[in-house]
Amino acid sequence: MSVDTLTIPTQTVSQSRISELDFNNIEFGKIFADHMLVVDYKDGAWQTPEIKPYGNMSLSPATSALHYGQAIFEGMKAYKNAAGDILLFRPLDNFRRLNISGERMCIPELPEEIFMQGLEQLLRLDAAWVPPTAGCALYIRPFIFATDDFIGVRPSSSYRFVVFSCPVGAYYGQPLRVAIEPNYVRSAEGGAGYAKAAGNYGAALYPARKMQERGYHQLIWTDAREHKYIEESGTMNVMFVIDGKLVTPAVSTTILAGITRDSVLQIARDKGIPVEERKVAVSEIVEAHKAGKLQEAFGTGTAATIAQIATIHYNGEDMNLPALEGREISNSIAAELDRIKTGQAPDAHNWIHKISL
Ligand code: COI
Repeated sequence: MSVDTLTIPTQTVSQSRISELDFNNIEFGKIFADHMLVVDYKDGAWQTPEIKPYGNMSLSPATSALHYGQAIFEGMKAYKNAAGDILLFRPLDNFRRLNISGERMCIPELPEEIFMQGLEQLLRLDAAWVPPTAGCALYIRPFIFATDDFIGVRPSSSYRFVVFSCPVGAYYGQPLRVAIEPNYVRSAEGGAGYAKAAGNYGAALYPARKMQERGYHQLIWTDAREHKYIEESGTMNVMFVIDGKLVTPAVSTTILAGITRDSVLQIARDKGIPVEERKVAVSEIVEAHKAGKLQEAFGTGTAATIAQIATIHYNGEDMNLPALEGREISNSIAAELDRIKTGQAPDAHNWIHKISL
């Protein structure tokens, strides 16, 4: 199968649901585009992909992913440029990361042509669902789950790869109040924290809910050994501007290698902003705040893009950060990232995959 020759059998909807969507008021993750891509893996091989109307799937109650969490996913976004072409942002990076997560979860490698050609054909079909509105995008959710109907614990011998999409606006409606988590952990060395495995997100819900009950939107995860070093914030990577430098935890086996994270760091370097990827101690953040040197803090992720952090709680105290308007580094990087994604700025790093209609 080559990228050029794979033509995916397609069953289209008889009537699009796009009139259900109010393009001026898009909520995250609630209304799904008309079609989805579905590919099964069985007998040791990925089978012929198909595109069909978005809809429910029939599954055995014994489907192993539902019991043991052998499931991985990606999140990516598509935008429209002024000419109306669809611009996919760094899809090959999502593809590579999907297979990195797959290896960790014993899920067979997905071929690039299925991923890329599947995305191209799906998005051409659902092009009308890519919002042209500033601040909005088509969020694309590729995922793979184990489909053996067998409840013994072992890697499944069959899987399903699905891609569906939904138009989205902002993930967080306001600047975040976050709290540094002193007890629970998202991930430990040797675990699956670097993988986009479904169970990482499920296991994070309870600590996040406990923080929400205390009045914070999200938590900042700390390392599993000592709770001394900062890891991620909620479902995002986290960055700080300390004394003019952009500082973020280095990726490791416990931290997801975020594609937005990497893009933000690259844009910062392009702008000549000093970047430090290293261990970031909680004590450093507290001291920088006391000294008036903690200028900015924000999360980065595909869904949220750049989510500003207004307040960080630690050890009984709220550290309130400077006003958003003055956050020159994150605001300028966010604006540049947005221009690149929508084709308004040169694509110096070949991040854009254009789908002409
Ligand atoms: C993303 O940013 O795409 C994520 O994976 C977060 C998501 C779980 C909403």
